Amino acid sequence: MITGLDTTTVSKPENVAKKVHIETWGCQMNVADSERMLAMLNKENYTLTDNADDADLVLLNTCHIREKAKHKVLSRLGKLREIRIANNPQMKIAVTGCVAQAEGAKLLKSAPGIDVLVGPGKLDELTHLIKKNASSGVAEMAIGFKKTGNIGKEDTTKIKAEFTPSLNGKNKVSRFVNIQQGCNNYCTFCVVPYTRGREISREPEAVIAEAAKLLSQGATEITLLGQNVNSYGLDLVETGKIPATTNGPFVDLLSAISDLPEIHRVRFTTSNPHDFTKPLAKLFGSHPKMGRYIHLPVQSGHNEVLGRMKRKVTIAEYWERINWLREQVPDIAISTDLIVGFPGETEEEFQGTLDLVEQVEFSFIFCFKYSPRNNTVAKRMADQVPEDVMNERLARLNAMQDKITIKQNLAEIGKIREVLVLYESPKYPGVYYGRTQHYRLVKVNSPNRNITGKLIDVKIFQANKTAIEGSPI
Ligand code: 5AD
Ligand code: SF4
Repeated sequence: MITGLDTTTVSKPENVAKKVHIETWGCQMNVADSERMLAMLNKENYTLTDNADDADLVLLNTCHIREKAKHKVLSRLGKLREIRIANNPQMKIAVTGCVAQAEGAKLLKSAPGIDVLVGPGKLDELTHLIKKNASSGVAEMAIGFKKTGNIGKEDTTKIKAEFTPSLNGKNKVSRFVNIQQGCNNYCTFCVVPYTRGREISREPEAVIAEAAKLLSQGATEITLLGQNVNSYGLDLVETGKIPATTNGPFVDLLSAISDLPEIHRVRFTTSNPHDFTKPLAKLFGSHPKMGRYIHLPVQSGHNEVLGRMKRKVTIAEYWERINWLREQVPDIAISTDLIVGFPGETEEEFQGTLDLVEQVEFSFIFCFKYSPRNNTVAKRMADQVPEDVMNERLARLNAMQDKITIKQNLAEIGKIREVLVLYESPKYPGVYYGRTQHYRLVKVNSPNRNITGKLIDVKIFQANKTAIEGSPI
């Protein structure tokens, strides 16, 4: 409890129906966390609203991966306070996610008006703290991490098996299942180990039960989420909770999920090339439900930079993994994350990244300008790269990838692709969006209105940089 920070709002009694508005920033882990919090809040009589103006609770689930995160939160909090004063005096404000963890009490001091602040390691305390705040009238806070055990104090199998709401009503087909919290890697640029703690894996039974529940609610694609999914379960093996096996816990888990009866596709993110194994590549070859797409962040195309980043793989090792995958699925689509302007990055080192992008021919890339983060080793490195150099490199990298993406998308024209239909356009009935096995977004016009969640064959007739279009056959 933080004392001396009186809040000004008056809460509704516990048993009265209430509305929660959730804003989620950052990665898919945050989306999954928001869904988990919504499940907890549903049990406390809260329903979701799109509108902060009439919400009893506004929940900001924040991201801290790059700079300006705190500013974004502060500016949104300013707006929310205005709404609260102007027309919604009962509004409570909760800040969760990585900014909550990183800033903690400092944020409560600099942004008065927050009622509850909860870090990602303490999410299961959210509803308890909301109730506590309602009676105490002072800001309540829980941050930090548990050292061992399942994610959260509560039995997550139970939470999810009872009720699993979708945050985004438009997509009930493709759902996330969290398999792991935290990261042990300490890449020198990354704040995640400090905001999400050390790796803790959920037990396989909990993950499988949750996936099965989502499938029974109409999902047909499951994406397993973790910061470093390839090392999933190594902690469980170490503590004797599950036995060591030939393929390792992550591949065993993926196989079990792929075998669930109603599932069309299984995906996972984020993969670290360091822990990427040959059995995982082989699974792509043997299990068609794995699709033909993987996101495999490399971060830089130059060994010197990878060394300074402490990524633990070389470019040759990255290629080795790509070759394992291509031996199994020759046309597999690969995407990656890249950072430009890491401290000390020379033009020659950056050229390594351009070369890698050109040679691998990624299906798409997520490029970021390096952003110094508190506590990280890279922030203390000499030779921080000037902003204008980073901007120029980012533009060159994106221009190179644009050419590759357009070439790949145009090559889709005339092909017949299996598409998992994800949702119908809310504006244009009969227009559907789905993804191919290679994770390409496809627009489909269909007179048959009963295709959401299904696999259909689509003939591609048009393509541009961001999407392709086809007709069902
Ligand atoms: N600066 C820029 N990009 C970063 N990322 C993580 N930390 C930083 C940082 N400090 C990028 C990495 C990671 C993705 C999720 O965000 O590319 O894979
Ligand atoms: Fe961050 Fe590296 Fe862990 Fe990914 S593997 S979350 S980049 S520390």
